Amino acid sequence: MEVIMRPTAGAAALLAARLIAARLREKHDLVLGLATGRTMEMVYELLVRMHREEGLDFSLCRTFNLDEYIGLEPADPHSYHAYMGKHLFSRVNIDSRNTRLPDGMASDLKAAALRYEKDIAACGGIDLQLLGIGHDGHIGFNEPLSSLRSRTRDKTLTPGTIAVNSTLFGDEPHRMPRRAMTMGVGTILDAREIVLLATGSNKAAIMVQALEGPVTSMVTASALQLHPSCKVIVDEAAAGDLKAKDYYRWIFENEPEWEPYRDAPPVKKGTT
Ligand code: F6R
Repeated sequence: MEVIMRPTAGAAALLAARLIAARLREKHDLVLGLATGRTMEMVYELLVRMHREEGLDFSLCRTFNLDEYIGLEPADPHSYHAYMGKHLFSRVNIDSRNTRLPDGMASDLKAAALRYEKDIAACGGIDLQLLGIGHDGHIGFNEPLSSLRSRTRDKTLTPGTIAVNSTLFGDEPHRMPRRAMTMGVGTILDAREIVLLATGSNKAAIMVQALEGPVTSMVTASALQLHPSCKVIVDEAAAGDLKAKDYYRWIFENEPEWEPYRDAPPVKKGTT
């Protein structure tokens, strides 16, 4: 695992977006695992900008999202289907037939989960998985005590996750589903490369547990410590409580892999 610190949320999101863009340029039919949530909005905004201004090409890219609420129609504005359409899919040249999210409306959720796993395998597996992190350390919706070998399945959300995410349901917080279909921790760990992005001081406490604490199913993000190619990008605020901050800064300044990213152009106004 490599932890990379950037000064602001905008700079952290820019680094994540540049990494995704680089992988997409190397492999046009990249299989990309995608996340939703507030943290990702800036990443998608930057990818859209790279598509428009630099011709970043999504035409052959295939995507699998981490999760979807159970019981929300794809057309429901609060669904993750709608989120992805709004923030990315409708704004770049991706083929909608190549975009997949778990089916939260399936009458047989177990069969739908199995199908999702098979679809990922049929595409050759996920090349790059993008992740955010919840306040309880969840990745996808793998809440505390999710097996670290779990596969795609339906999962009951914690009251804490429901409280945080129901604020996104505007004046209808009661419509926030109690359950979701999510890739498992095992599914996520199968990705060839993982990039987790965390920004803001409200993530500082959980980042210490996830990165510098023991591997435990109580904090499913801690399982990323076992992955051979996982990059964690944090801003100074989310890194606030980390013990090895000086080393993480040192990595970005000295590791040859990061050389092309050190010259990051200043983030334009409106993206920080
Ligand atoms: C969403 C997902 C979740 C979020 C996490 C953080 O697809 O998988 O794990 O990444 O809940 O959400 P934000 O960014 O809203 O804090």
